Amino acid sequence: MRKNKNNLPIWNTRIKKNSTNLFKKIGGSLSIDKRLYKEDIEASTVHVEMLFKQKIINFKIKSKIIWGLNRIKNEIVKKKFIFNDKLEDIHMNIESRLFELIGEDAGHIHTARSRNDQVVTDFKIWLRKANKEIIKNIDSINKNILKKAEKNIQTIMPGFTHLKNAQPVSFSHYLMAYLEMFNRDKKRFENNLDSINENPLGVAALTGTSFKIDRFYTTKRLGFKKPTRNSIDTVSDRDFVIDFLYSCSVCAVHISRIAEEFIIWNSDAFKLITLNDKIVTGSSIMPQKKNPDPLEYLRGKTGFVFGNLFSMLTTLKGLPLSYFKDLQDDKEIVFTSFDQLKNSLIILNDVFKNFSPNKKRMIELAESGYITATDLADYMVRELNYPFRKAYLQTAKIINYAEKNKKKLSELSMKEINKIEQELTSDVLKVFDLKRSVNSKVSYGGTSFENIKKMILSYKRK
Ligand code: ARG
Repeated sequence: MRKNKNNLPIWNTRIKKNSTNLFKKIGGSLSIDKRLYKEDIEASTVHVEMLFKQKIINFKIKSKIIWGLNRIKNEIVKKKFIFNDKLEDIHMNIESRLFELIGEDAGHIHTARSRNDQVVTDFKIWLRKANKEIIKNIDSINKNILKKAEKNIQTIMPGFTHLKNAQPVSFSHYLMAYLEMFNRDKKRFENNLDSINENPLGVAALTGTSFKIDRFYTTKRLGFKKPTRNSIDTVSDRDFVIDFLYSCSVCAVHISRIAEEFIIWNSDAFKLITLNDKIVTGSSIMPQKKNPDPLEYLRGKTGFVFGNLFSMLTTLKGLPLSYFKDLQDDKEIVFTSFDQLKNSLIILNDVFKNFSPNKKRMIELAESGYITATDLADYMVRELNYPFRKAYLQTAKIINYAEKNKKKLSELSMKEINKIEQELTSDVLKVFDLKRSVNSKVSYGGTSFENIKKMILSYKRK
């Protein structure tokens, strides 16, 4: 392990005693914030260029530091960098290595900044990429949903409320519902990109700095929109972290709901969809089994993502301004949520590519449970001019009769129907047709084939 002079932290000029062994071991964050090395080097480079531009350091020092930072980046990329967890975090590791590489001049890197603004800057840059990466994964899922939806416009299934047959729908309509959910998620992540866009660099520990720095320059160079406006708030604020964790949580809710839906549809009781072998696992004892483990994984892991949101909220609750060590945990929380959500999106995407609807079974199920009852009531409103409540009552009577005689609505004769409602003619029998029912829902956002086609087309154009 590489050591600095006495293998002591930089602040050991005043703090003479080492931390207790246990705290030394667990108080650092290197194993986690290592992941910020690129962003740390990027921000440091821009910081140093700004110091030079403002004549706070000279050309030679600036060049040396930037040379050193590039070399460190190379070492890390090539896995030649020796990390030292006694140096607490990634920022101190990089700074300490810079001293080894270029000597005393390395010390100029920390003029007019603190780790407090440094870490938030790195983190915001990292989160910008993370938000974009999640958006990319959502886009890819949406593409596959659209593909599947296009192929299943005419696939008819029961639409459920309370998990009971409600009214027939196109299977595409369900798929396009998922697309709506993911589009809202996408918007949340896009909004995050907007709110994360303020540059923390230059607020130093909490007060700002007496050096004549140019925060607008670093803002531009680091791709932010504007500098933050209050130095105390800047080092204490982790709202952008909560925004991200919340967005992850809502997206995870959606993934979990879809996973649960597919588990039910795939069950032997429903058999509405078949998962292909890529997305099932076997049982160690029951040879016949093909279990939807990946879907259960998606549903299960959702809890982690919620938990992380609550951890962060709890950390911030009751924390006075400004920086406290408590905040260090934000990275671990965000990284695990990001990894979890990204993996879940990839797995769900695989699910969308590897299942098929059992069209015959869907129709079979849709034909049970008096699923066209509402169509019958609507028919009476339209053709007999009944108020809806009266039509509802007459329909309920017809269903009671059918249920008692163990018949489907389509199996009733006109004689039987007329015993309950004399005004109906044989024209009414058409309303029991499932396809007709689906296609009659022409109101905007409804399940008619035309509506769905239009929706798919408009999304494809986007
Ligand atoms: N590793 C620390 C963190 O992530 C960096 C900031 C340290 N600042 C401080 N005042 N100790 O929060």
